Amino acid sequence: MLLLGIETSCDDTAVAVLRDGRSLLANVVSSQDQVHGPYGGVVPELASRQHIQNILPIIDAALRQAGIAVKDLAGIAVTYGPGLVGSLLVGLSMAKALAFRGRIPYIGVTHLEAHLLAIHLEQEVPFPYIALLASGGHTLLYCVKEVGAYAHLGSTRDDAAGEAYDKVAKMMGLGYPGGRIIDSLAKNGDREAIRFPRAHIKKGSYEFSFSGVKTAVWQYLKSQQKDRWENRKADIAASFQEAVVDMLVTPTVKAATAHAVSRIVLAGGVAANSRLREKIVEKADAEGVKVYFPAPKFCTDNGAMIALAGYYWLQRGRQDDFRLNAHPDLTL
Ligand code: KG4
Ligand code: ZN
Repeated sequence: MLLLGIETSCDDTAVAVLRDGRSLLANVVSSQDQVHGPYGGVVPELASRQHIQNILPIIDAALRQAGIAVKDLAGIAVTYGPGLVGSLLVGLSMAKALAFRGRIPYIGVTHLEAHLLAIHLEQEVPFPYIALLASGGHTLLYCVKEVGAYAHLGSTRDDAAGEAYDKVAKMMGLGYPGGRIIDSLAKNGDREAIRFPRAHIKKGSYEFSFSGVKTAVWQYLKSQQKDRWENRKADIAASFQEAVVDMLVTPTVKAATAHAVSRIVLAGGVAANSRLREKIVEKADAEGVKVYFPAPKFCTDNGAMIALAGYYWLQRGRQDDFRLNAHPDLTL
């Protein structure tokens, strides 16, 4: 069973071909980082325009890489939300056109669900597990009981973790997207150099908050002469990162122990973070909890996870008709 997965919810045009929910025959991603870089964040109009330019060549490239034609597809899976409406509509319209022309079943996939299931592209992880989804747009904690059964445990009250990374990188003039840059800069810094605040949301809750640490970095930068903090960039990056990582790790490990779940799965762009991976393993290990993380290319937005989620649902007999619309605020 060959499935095409199309993802255009934000600023990456991504297409994959997946066979039998298991073998990935192609996984092509066209990043728009260069386009949005000068603005320090995604500009929605530019993103949808780029998707329009990229979508056909990326689909062609994925089919070529997989060595198949459209007529060989048994299904098409496409993200229909949440995300930027102009971006979502490009992928969704493309999927509908291909499905209509080739009389191929197609299915709309929730972007968040695809992230939560992405780990199964590479590893067999038994259910249930606690999933931390941390990206540029979301910071969410779920208990994943099985495909389709997701208990929401908590989310961010303000900024998403990746958003905080991107904003702090912008303040420091480091470039966009900031997560990867801060992650590598922090490797040469002292994470104890500056004690940035950790938000403590009320006991027993699994909520997150990152606007406080972002503001604290801003205040720190303002309080110093630029040439002084320029020499301490690595220390600032490492100290900021340590605060973010602590705020992600503590509620996640707590959720696993409180729900007597012995597995944690990381997902989303921030799950690629090296310090997060190191620290969550250390803390979870102490509680007898095992941590699983996807390869970085399956943490950030990709078509493979969309194809996989679509595969699970098509197998269960679901498919969509042409009335399906983009849902920018779609939840699980
Ligand atoms: O999942 P994703 O590709 O897109 C969204 O759905 O948002 O995540 C992108 C986010 C960006 O905010 C980026 O700065 C962050 O993930 N990110 C990282 C790392 N790599 C990407 N954050 C921290 N450390 C990283 N290594
Ligand atoms: Zn995402």
